[in-house]
Amino acid sequence: MTPAAGRVSSEELRSHQWYGTDGLRSFSHRARTRQLGYLPEEHLGKPVIAILNTWSDINPCHVHLRERAQAVKRGVWQAGGFPLEFPVSTLSETFQKPTPMLYRNMLAMETEELLRSYPVDGAVLLGGCDKSTPALLMGAASADLPAVFVPAGPMLPGHWRDEVLGSGTDMWKYWDDKRAGLIGDCEMAELESGLARSPGHCMTMGTASTLTAAAEALGVTVPGASSIPAVDSGHDRMAARSGLAIVELVWQQRKLSDILTADAYEDAVATVLALGGSTNAVIHLIAMAGRSGITLTLDDFDRIARTVPVLANLRPGGKYLMEDFHFAGGLPGFLARLTDVLHLDRPTVTHDTLRAQLDGALVHNSDVIRERDNPLADEGGVAVLRGNLCPDGAVIKHIAAEPHLLRHTGPAVVFDDYQEMQRTINDPALALTPDHVLVLRNAGPKGGPGMPEYGMLPIPDYLLKQGVRDMVRLSDARMSGTSYGACVLHIAPESYVGGPLALVRSGDLITLDVEARLLHLDVSEEELSRRRAGWTPPANRYERGYGALYQDQITQADTGCDFAFLARPGDVPDPYAG
Ligand code: FES
Ligand code: MG
Repeated sequence: MTPAAGRVSSEELRSHQWYGTDGLRSFSHRARTRQLGYLPEEHLGKPVIAILNTWSDINPCHVHLRERAQAVKRGVWQAGGFPLEFPVSTLSETFQKPTPMLYRNMLAMETEELLRSYPVDGAVLLGGCDKSTPALLMGAASADLPAVFVPAGPMLPGHWRDEVLGSGTDMWKYWDDKRAGLIGDCEMAELESGLARSPGHCMTMGTASTLTAAAEALGVTVPGASSIPAVDSGHDRMAARSGLAIVELVWQQRKLSDILTADAYEDAVATVLALGGSTNAVIHLIAMAGRSGITLTLDDFDRIARTVPVLANLRPGGKYLMEDFHFAGGLPGFLARLTDVLHLDRPTVTHDTLRAQLDGALVHNSDVIRERDNPLADEGGVAVLRGNLCPDGAVIKHIAAEPHLLRHTGPAVVFDDYQEMQRTINDPALALTPDHVLVLRNAGPKGGPGMPEYGMLPIPDYLLKQGVRDMVRLSDARMSGTSYGACVLHIAPESYVGGPLALVRSGDLITLDVEARLLHLDVSEEELSRRRAGWTPPANRYERGYGALYQDQITQADTGCDFAFLARPGDVPDPYAG
């Protein structure tokens, strides 16, 4: 059969090597597909579409994805493809310890190897809870097949009495209220049932919403996909549409490498910054770009941040939640207000150009998605800091901090690890004042391990009771996308590998100056050299297993925390299937 212009033939499909040849192997693959219960005419000559599903009973953000996979299959069948669902690791931000960040690269490896080793022509990737999005896209980018991402969608807005709650953000807020003695156990019991009211990922502009929006901006979702509430019927329709789209992409052989270009990553960075999105996106987008063979740096973030205003009025920095954003126009409406900074002539999974994809996109509420002349902040939400305390950089989400702290000098109070901080932070003997700079170390990629979200160090109870709600805090950790405060994060190199953070002592003066992009430790080079000479590297934690691979291969925050052997360029042969 001669394919239509721009299409490949059935014989050119990757899966043809498994199913369509004359040899014993193909016979066996066909026989085993009969065993699965399929007729030859249901699958032979059709694109095989792998649906990678991160559903699990333990993951409330993905618990609806088992049903959603059925809608994807519906779309694939309608378009003449052959869908097969593959369960893959679930990364639950809430439940997985020490942090799912430890396992992001594991899911990326699983994704890549699964797509490579099975008879797959294209993939639909289902996920959304924080690290799931980058993990799936990193793996799929390395495998480089046609692929469509189906974002899990935000959960419904939280409610308590007559208040609307943001998951994460309001959890931190009310926990502080409880510690300050403003509310009691009865209120907390009610809040427990009101914070998270349905399946779906966090519905603030936390890490999940930031990364799924980035995926849409990259062009790997169907238009408008990322903000559809998880339990809305529109989410089913979006899933079916994604199934239709992937089959067409396979016939066109439009691979992820055709879509995930340097221009696409620049646009994703601009999107994340204009959303006032999570600092975690800095690490993930650098890692994702690396898998596409593109070097994205911290300086790119700082450069682009100076060109885009924050237009999304969403918590934790603003007022609204993802459902409001969806009905205000979602990402297409939002991007329509940024067209001057976007690369409009690049392809997406559904359109030849982003321009065509955004055609007709409207904003319906200009308080949720602001006009360009009425932004929430004039510059993007994240600043990159440099200085003798962070030679390879650090980040701060300055729009979520109290402005008076953005230029601050104060004495350090150092906690050697998270456990020590938890034990001692409320000890009045520390005599902390609002001017102190709280420093946490050994919480980085290797030291955490996994760079846990410890970066919003708690304010001591006695200062909370005095009404103090923000202080300058430094660490080599990450911070939840739903957190806030003057928290300097991702300090690189981390203390565990001997970065200057390892050398700070309580009482040293530290200066943060966001305007000047500076983080400075006021200790002479000579004294730092003396301290460095007396520093002993900590022993490796893991003697075997995945942790040993992790500690051996993990890269620093400024280069995306990928595994060195996964991030480097190089060929991997396709398996011989005949
Ligand atoms: Fe899954 Fe927040 S816990 S996105
Ligand atoms: Mg989070």
